Amino acid sequence: MRVLVTGGSSGLGAALVQAYLARGAQVLNCDLKPPPVVEEVAQQPSRNPGADSAAFLRLDVRSDDDWAAAVAWTDAHWGGLDVLFNNAGVAGGGRLDVATMDEWEWITAINLFGVVRGTRAFVPMFKRQGSGQVVNVASLAGLVHPAGMASYNAVKAAVVAFTETVGHELAEYGVTAHAVCPSYFRTGLVDAMQGSDEAVGAVIGALVTNAPLGPDDIAAAVLEALDRGEELILPDDAARAAYELKVTDRAAYDEVMRKQAARLNAMGTT
Ligand SMILES: NC(=O)c1ccc[n+]([C@@H]2O[C@H](COP(=O)([O-])OP(=O)(O)OC[C@H]3O[C@@H](n4cnc5c(N)ncnc54)[C@H](O)[C@@H]3O)[C@@H](O)[C@H]2O)c1
Repeated sequence: MRVLVTGGSSGLGAALVQAYLARGAQVLNCDLKPPPVVEEVAQQPSRNPGADSAAFLRLDVRSDDDWAAAVAWTDAHWGGLDVLFNNAGVAGGGRLDVATMDEWEWITAINLFGVVRGTRAFVPMFKRQGSGQVVNVASLAGLVHPAGMASYNAVKAAVVAFTETVGHELAEYGVTAHAVCPSYFRTGLVDAMQGSDEAVGAVIGALVTNAPLGPDDIAAAVLEALDRGEELILPDDAARAAYELKVTDRAAYDEVMRKQAARLNAMGTT
């Protein structure tokens, strides 16, 4: 299996890279930066020579030129691609009158247009092959939408909608599309967070840092869900419970969300 993972140098992407390597896949990690060198891992004897590390290609998901280079790389080295994992993303958000339009444009360029550019770049190859799997990492925020996170919610909801469209449009070419919607899990996502709304930043930071699950748990659950052919993947109990509440008891869901908004508004905007 030939797999390209964006954002594979950290967090969920790094866990996905390891999970695919453990399955014997060939993996290309496309990220802004290479993964940190981990001495202990580098010194361990290879359990499967030639398949114990991912290739790395520097790629900014906002660059069509970088995506063209990734397509050329997979064509030249592998003669095609089986899984495109659009995982790279950033955290942002902020209340409506605090977050700036520059912040909206930043998060849209990476979290939405990065996924769109990557998918568009590989569609001709997938159509030619008559096969392929597009896996887009959205978020639970793409399905349930907490106050104070309008921009993040909106772009992740757009990723969910985009993914469903890709799946339908490419079904007759043998291509499947899958949206991944986890709740908070522990990564360095908050380190790269940008935004003027410091109260929202602190809340999200605490939720990510104190989350019960880490990226390895989410990666394992996602691969199992892909094995089952799931198109909308809710990989953890918290995500499943929150989505279930919205679908089955909309009034209760709205009540929870309004209370959360009130708590946030009580924190003030300065
Ligand atoms: N951590 C959470 O709580 C959580 C919850 C739901 C969804 N997600 C989503 O999971 C995905 C992975 O996030 P993570 O938590 O592992 O974060 P992370 O910050 O640990 O990893 C993100 C990776 O993406 C890379 N990246 C950022 N901008 C890029 C760009 N323009 N081009 C290429 N690479 C870029 C970073 O260098 C980094 O290696 C994101 O899409 C995020 O929105 C995270």
